[in-house]
Amino acid sequence: MELKSLMINQTDEWKALESHWEAMSEVHLRHLFEQDAQRHERFSVDACDWHLDYSKNLIDEEALKRLIALAKAANLTQWAERLIGGERVNATEGRAVLHMALRNLGYRNYAYEGKDIMPVVRSVLSRMRTFSDDVRNGRWLGYTGQVFTDVVNIGIGGSSLGPKMVCEALRPYQRDNLRVHFVSNVDSSHIEQVLKPLDPKTTLFIISSKTFATQETLANATAAREWCIKGVGTTKAVESHFVAVSTNTQAVREFGINPANMFQFWDWVGGRYSLWSSIGLPIAIAVGMDNFESMLLGGHDMDEHFVKTPYENNMPVIMALLGIWYTNFGDADSYAIVPYYQDLASFPDFLQQLDMESNGKRITLDGRLVDYQTGPVTWGSVGTDAQHSFFQLIHQGTRLVPTDFVLPLTGHNAKPDHQDKLVANCLAQAQALMRGRTAAEVQAEMEHAGFDQQKIDQLLPHRMFPGNRPSNMLVTEKLTPRSLGALIALYEHKVFVQGIIWGVGSFDQWGVELGKHLANQILDDFNEASGSCELDSSTADLIQRYNDAKNQSN
Ligand code: F6P
Repeated sequence: MELKSLMINQTDEWKALESHWEAMSEVHLRHLFEQDAQRHERFSVDACDWHLDYSKNLIDEEALKRLIALAKAANLTQWAERLIGGERVNATEGRAVLHMALRNLGYRNYAYEGKDIMPVVRSVLSRMRTFSDDVRNGRWLGYTGQVFTDVVNIGIGGSSLGPKMVCEALRPYQRDNLRVHFVSNVDSSHIEQVLKPLDPKTTLFIISSKTFATQETLANATAAREWCIKGVGTTKAVESHFVAVSTNTQAVREFGINPANMFQFWDWVGGRYSLWSSIGLPIAIAVGMDNFESMLLGGHDMDEHFVKTPYENNMPVIMALLGIWYTNFGDADSYAIVPYYQDLASFPDFLQQLDMESNGKRITLDGRLVDYQTGPVTWGSVGTDAQHSFFQLIHQGTRLVPTDFVLPLTGHNAKPDHQDKLVANCLAQAQALMRGRTAAEVQAEMEHAGFDQQKIDQLLPHRMFPGNRPSNMLVTEKLTPRSLGALIALYEHKVFVQGIIWGVGSFDQWGVELGKHLANQILDDFNEASGSCELDSSTADLIQRYNDAKNQSN
């Protein structure tokens, strides 16, 4: 069936939501909780080791019903079927989107152009197992016969953010004698800092690039190769110290890596969805292939939940619809993600690419300019640190910032006293956002503390909190490879659902092209005396300043 992307804001379902937002602005979350002792039960869902408490959102049952009607109006189920069916849903690049096949440890069939893709997926997984086991157990050695102590992944964007985030999140599953590092930035201080304490004889490099054409990655890979050859003393070192993860065999060969040491993936795996593929090799080396496969299983659990569960209890669908509710009806232009778990510090960075590169678009799949908001700004950092930086604005600022709290209830070897404080703070933030603090409460507290009325009058407006600020609470008992896999897949599906509703192509990223193209032109301009004649005066001046600074520092 040909599914036209419709202008979703022209539908009756959208209009019904507009009027319901107006109605909801008359109520306060504090009162909704007071009026309904079952509110948490009514607005929470359990799936794949996670409990989503979404009761502290500005919704009632009618809002949820109308949001679900919107998802249906956007043909969500049919689009999900097309996705899983291997159709080229990435229409502008003419590609299928089949990262779900990479974590298909179940029975599902995934085919591309009529061909079962599970055999190639399994064969790469099996190669990853052999290689990661060999590195971990000292069977794959450096050129001088020494065991590897350090692995450096060189890649950027999806070829770095996902694996880096997962390696950090699963730190308790790592070994002390095998460290994994990530180099992404073309600022040379990044690679210099990472390599400085390392021994070239015991360092393995993974060059991760889907295209093997990314400027930053190739510059860093070249620097790493020089460092390795110099440190080991022979060009022959490259054979045992460098492996590649890519779809581009020819470019890997031209770079000087033996294609036998290349781990394949496919054009139906988008960069920001690739941590499940051989791009996850640093994860497998860091935590072992069994744990990597547990993570795949967690992702697969969430896929099954997403595909099989009615929208009313479907965790990614609910989260997506709540995001639509605030973005399109509540005028929120960002959402914050705040994990109360230090090892998830890179999760907001990972989500930035996942969400903003997927849905930061203004043209629908059939080429029309939207006249409604699409992907929100995604940002955040870990609690409790975030409480001492940006939470002021979320509590008392003028903007609506829906917030996702992510809370593994028990840490690995957590100190009980620290853990109590961590969890108490997380729960308190969500509660404070929901309840706020009324004028009467401030008055009573200040009177109790002995303030005179003049001081109370002066400070009262500053000490009041409006409350009624929405948040989700995502809770799991412990962050394991499996629950982490489910969490990542949850956000992937959320982003997919929102893209369908907005009618944009969530799987391309044309918006990153122009900057890359112009950077190459500017590189050429550095070498011309006065820059190319088409340059605007601002860029021409900046180039001149750079050239002057370079000449002075030489
Ligand atoms: O710049 C955007 C991007 O294309 C991402 O989508 C991708 O994850 C990243 O660059 C890296 O690309 P590659 O893996 O081809 O080096």
